[in-house]
Amino acid sequence: MNIHTIPVITIDGPSASGKGTIAQLVANKLGFHYLDSGALYRLVALKSLQSRIDIDDTVQLAGLARKLDTVFKDNQICLDGKIVTDEIRSEQCGNLASKLAAHPQVRAALTERQRAFRQPPGLVTDGRDMGSVIFPDAILKIFLTASAEIRAQRRHNQLIEKGISANIADLLQDIEKRDERDSNRSIAPLQQCSDARLLDTSSLTISQAQDTVLAWYNAICAKTSA
Ligand code: DC
Repeated sequence: MNIHTIPVITIDGPSASGKGTIAQLVANKLGFHYLDSGALYRLVALKSLQSRIDIDDTVQLAGLARKLDTVFKDNQICLDGKIVTDEIRSEQCGNLASKLAAHPQVRAALTERQRAFRQPPGLVTDGRDMGSVIFPDAILKIFLTASAEIRAQRRHNQLIEKGISANIADLLQDIEKRDERDSNRSIAPLQQCSDARLLDTSSLTISQAQDTVLAWYNAICAKTSA
């Protein structure tokens, strides 16, 4: 089968924009596979912490990324046979992931692993460079964002729900720092590519954002089958 006939919807955007939630909901609705590409960078971060590899040791980091022993199944993520779904969500893993993602060798080591998620009947994926680099022929590319203040507020609510105390000002500072690093790196920076549609969710509910993506996808399908 020609891999390029398998539809891919890419949802790129800054951290805490809600792209993971929306991508997962859309994938469920369409019966498509889902790839959380940020989780791969977070797994490399966790593994580098466990193996005490320096953040600037690009050769070792790329080797580790290539050999990553990981399984994504039933909304759980395993590393070396152990469930690490919650562990990789820590701010420490997120910040480290953002730093090591700036190394071209690490990105290259993860490219084929990400493309392997393209399986019938389709794929919804979220990240920073899904539409621009990994799946340039995606049928629908979305740049999903919200203001930094709204994203900090949403992250705050999530943490409070989990019983974790957090300070909005600190979260906002963290989000702004991560945006700056992800947007200004020289390789595969976070940016809205010219063929991506902008979806600002600052004043949308999750279900409105999900419906917008599905409406765009259905309109494209209707047009291509006409
Ligand atoms: O989406 P996230 O917050 O889980 O991603 C964690 C970090 O990984 C993010 O700050 C930058 C990096 N990342 C990336 O460079 N490219 C991707 N496609 C996904 C994530």
